Amino acid sequence: MGAHAPGATPIVALDRSGHGVAVLPDGRRVRVPGVDVGEHVALGPVVEAGRRLWARAEAIAAPSPHRLAPGCDQAAACPGCPLRHLSDARQWTLREASHRGALVRLGGLPADHPIERLPGAARDGYRARAVARPYVDEQGRLRLGLRELPTHSVAGIDLSRCPAQTEGSRALLASLAADLDALRIVPFDEETRPHGLRHVVVQVADDGEAQVVLGFGAEPDRAALVAGVQPAHPHLGLHVEVILPHKHGTLVRPEPLRGPAHLHLTVGPDRLRGTLPAWLPQTPATVPALQAAVLDWLAPGPGERVIEVGCGVGPLSLALARQGTPVLGIDHNRAAVLDAQHNAVQAGLNERATFRVGRAEKALRRLLAGGERADLVVLHGMRKPYGPAVLAGVRALTPRAILMIGPSAGAVARDVADAGPAWQVGRLGLLDQLPGTAWLLTLALLTPR
Ligand SMILES: C[S@@+](CC[C@H](N)C(=O)[O-])C[C@H]1O[C@@H](n2cnc3c(N)ncnc32)[C@H](O)[C@@H]1O
Repeated sequence: MGAHAPGATPIVALDRSGHGVAVLPDGRRVRVPGVDVGEHVALGPVVEAGRRLWARAEAIAAPSPHRLAPGCDQAAACPGCPLRHLSDARQWTLREASHRGALVRLGGLPADHPIERLPGAARDGYRARAVARPYVDEQGRLRLGLRELPTHSVAGIDLSRCPAQTEGSRALLASLAADLDALRIVPFDEETRPHGLRHVVVQVADDGEAQVVLGFGAEPDRAALVAGVQPAHPHLGLHVEVILPHKHGTLVRPEPLRGPAHLHLTVGPDRLRGTLPAWLPQTPATVPALQAAVLDWLAPGPGERVIEVGCGVGPLSLALARQGTPVLGIDHNRAAVLDAQHNAVQAGLNERATFRVGRAEKALRRLLAGGERADLVVLHGMRKPYGPAVLAGVRALTPRAILMIGPSAGAVARDVADAGPAWQVGRLGLLDQLPGTAWLLTLALLTPR
């Protein structure tokens, strides 16, 4: 586009992803990465990407007192941690305000509802999982990382140099990229290289166990991958998935190629098995704080029974069972439920913690039809709300409290609204699992009015 906005433009807000937002003289909104709300910036050329406008902050009139050195040489061009250049306190203030806004707007909470800040991750080295796209760097080598911001012209962001990743995942991303490069694997391109590599999913445990999924646009040479990708790694499970043209997504249909089918995450006293495509915590170090909050907020009494919807491989259900509470965990991911059952046996808790495969919408109705009731319900979700049908099922179980947990405040807020007017939010909390990003885990405890 090449248009310049003259003078110093104020940053008026953050967008959902944590990038600054400014308003151009013609009223259009433009994304400005690497800034703080309230700063006045000289905007560079405006570029259009993904139906959004973007511009760099070329100069900042009065830099925010909350700025820090980002401690990452790729930070300016990287979309991964849009708040990394701000102090922890400032990150909290901005994110708490946006999360509160969603809860008030979509969940009907009063604007002054108290919010608890739960202990979260350290600033660096916390991410045990990466979803990377391949790209070719300036020297012609294959790298695994992220697409750069539209305001910057670099080949890509190399996740093997990302300070937010754990040391183990950084090292694995670097050596995987070298292996794939040696095998002459090329990045996917719908037009010119439809057979290419579309994504790489990596999850690394503390003890060196790892899972890798290579997602291709067409059937790859599996024998070459088996022989050439991390051949000497004794604890690496190598998987492949083929994503049809025009389709998107990761972990759609991972098929094992070589090595162990699962890895283990150590969380407190548990060594949790996870088998693809089971969901595993991205920031395992924060799970003990989440478990502690679940136990403290639910405070199950003697004889009380919990149903956890979205139990995954079982970290929250097992924490409840360990302190004597009978728990039934439900998840639509079969691999996760098998892992949860295995983890309960390993922990000696399978008498108290049982798990079933089921989609929440139907599973709760079936439980009710079978005469099941729950004193307490945990609803642990993904980025989408569970929705009215699930909330109707939860209400019908007549619990004395519902604890909603989710990575999107908007999704939790919608579920709060769908719980209906007979339920009210008591404790509300935020847990920082992904420092530097716009996302906080939201916890809301609902009780009947
Ligand atoms: C964020 S994970 C949490 C897993 C686990 N509670 C933990 O702390 O590790 C959410 C889980 O909800 C499950 N899930 C999402 N929607 C569901 C649905 N409609 N019915 C059943 N399970 C669902 C997913 O498969 C996933 O395992």
